[in-house]
Amino acid sequence: MRLAGNARFAALPSLLANRGGVLKPRDFDPINIIISSLNIYLRKKEVGALPQSAVNSADKPLLAVLKGERRDPPPIWMMRQAGRYLPEYRALRADKGGFLDLVYDTDAAAEITLQPLRRFPELDGAILFSDILIVPFAIGQNLSFVAGEGPRLTPVMADARIRDLEPHMQRLQPIYETVKRVKAELSPQTTFLGFAGSPWTVATYMIAGQGSREQAEARRLAYADPGKLDAILDLIAMVTVDYLSGQIDAGVDAVQLFDSWSGSLAPAQFERFVIARTAWIADQLRQRHPDTPIIGFPRGAGGKLGAYAREAGIDAIGIDETADPAWVHRELPENMPVQGNLDPLALIAGGAELHRAVRRVLDAFSERPHIFNLGHGIQQDTPLAHVEELMRQVKGGE
Ligand code: CP3
Repeated sequence: MRLAGNARFAALPSLLANRGGVLKPRDFDPINIIISSLNIYLRKKEVGALPQSAVNSADKPLLAVLKGERRDPPPIWMMRQAGRYLPEYRALRADKGGFLDLVYDTDAAAEITLQPLRRFPELDGAILFSDILIVPFAIGQNLSFVAGEGPRLTPVMADARIRDLEPHMQRLQPIYETVKRVKAELSPQTTFLGFAGSPWTVATYMIAGQGSREQAEARRLAYADPGKLDAILDLIAMVTVDYLSGQIDAGVDAVQLFDSWSGSLAPAQFERFVIARTAWIADQLRQRHPDTPIIGFPRGAGGKLGAYAREAGIDAIGIDETADPAWVHRELPENMPVQGNLDPLALIAGGAELHRAVRRVLDAFSERPHIFNLGHGIQQDTPLAHVEELMRQVKGGE
């Protein structure tokens, strides 16, 4: 049997050219193992024995789009999809205690990672259940989450002498265990996403010791002592490369860098503290894991999105809800995969408004690799029925 002309295996003619274009399944070398399995595939296809889903069992639509393919309908996942809008999350959290207890309980963290996929089988991606503040915890800050208020980190980095910190890199190990556990349970079609915060966003918490209005403390440091901020960012960046690399070794298919506060910087600072650091991380990761796509999410970058897309070394870009999808499509490099950007509040609203907002996103990105997502994390008071509506519209083409 000759394979020439079978469009499914575009790479194969070059392999076959060396072999006279004829399959020789009895030869025993690696190429022939591939060829034998192709023969089995083709034979089954001829008699129509295998359903398409079985044939494509290793196909991960979200990963394919991250690598530059277009898919219709687009793959979908939601930022912060594992969390408080799910009653099953709230139940497990009440049972186990605090948020960090959940992150460090490998069974619970794996279960929470899988919860949204059980409820919404249309999801194409699972995101590891953890937090961006695990990195400062590993660097040596104390981390706690105060109910109703958010994270607390001590000592505050603006005062601390960096050389006095005592890193606890073993604090990252349980997260890799969670990755392995989830990986063993995921369907082969689901893309598994790891993540970390970008140095700038993580630094805003490390420097203020908590979430801060307009990230004022870190931005002041950017003017008062940029060299010190550089040192903090370099430290975070180094640990982040190790952390993401560990997640990839443990089994994630792609990683996302959350830069939730990149929008608060002036343009020259954005270049130095956001783009340069992201590019360094991307470069280091690519040396270790050349095939693992990196998604950058520079929330609030606005007019600086184009520069970020071109210079930050990432493979795909997450867009927040304030960017007009049609403008984004015109502004960004032609085939760069885009992820986003439904307003999380449209998802709370539901009904005709939601339908229109989803349509706008789908239409704007129909000509490029697109991953459907929200422009920021799903909010706690989002009705589950509206998420179901969203899944139906994106996957059912309504
Ligand atoms: O996306 C997911 O489902 C995976 C898990 C995930 C969490 N946080 C779990 C979490 C991810 C990817 C994050 C990212 C994160 N964490 C960011 C960047 C994205 C964003 O939303 O901007 C930031 C800035 C943080 C830091 C953080 N974690 C804050 C400020 C808070 C408190 C405020 C809040 O949203 O509750 C957290 C806590 C947190 N991280 C929760 C969850 C599910 C809530 C914990 C709880 O009370 O049960």
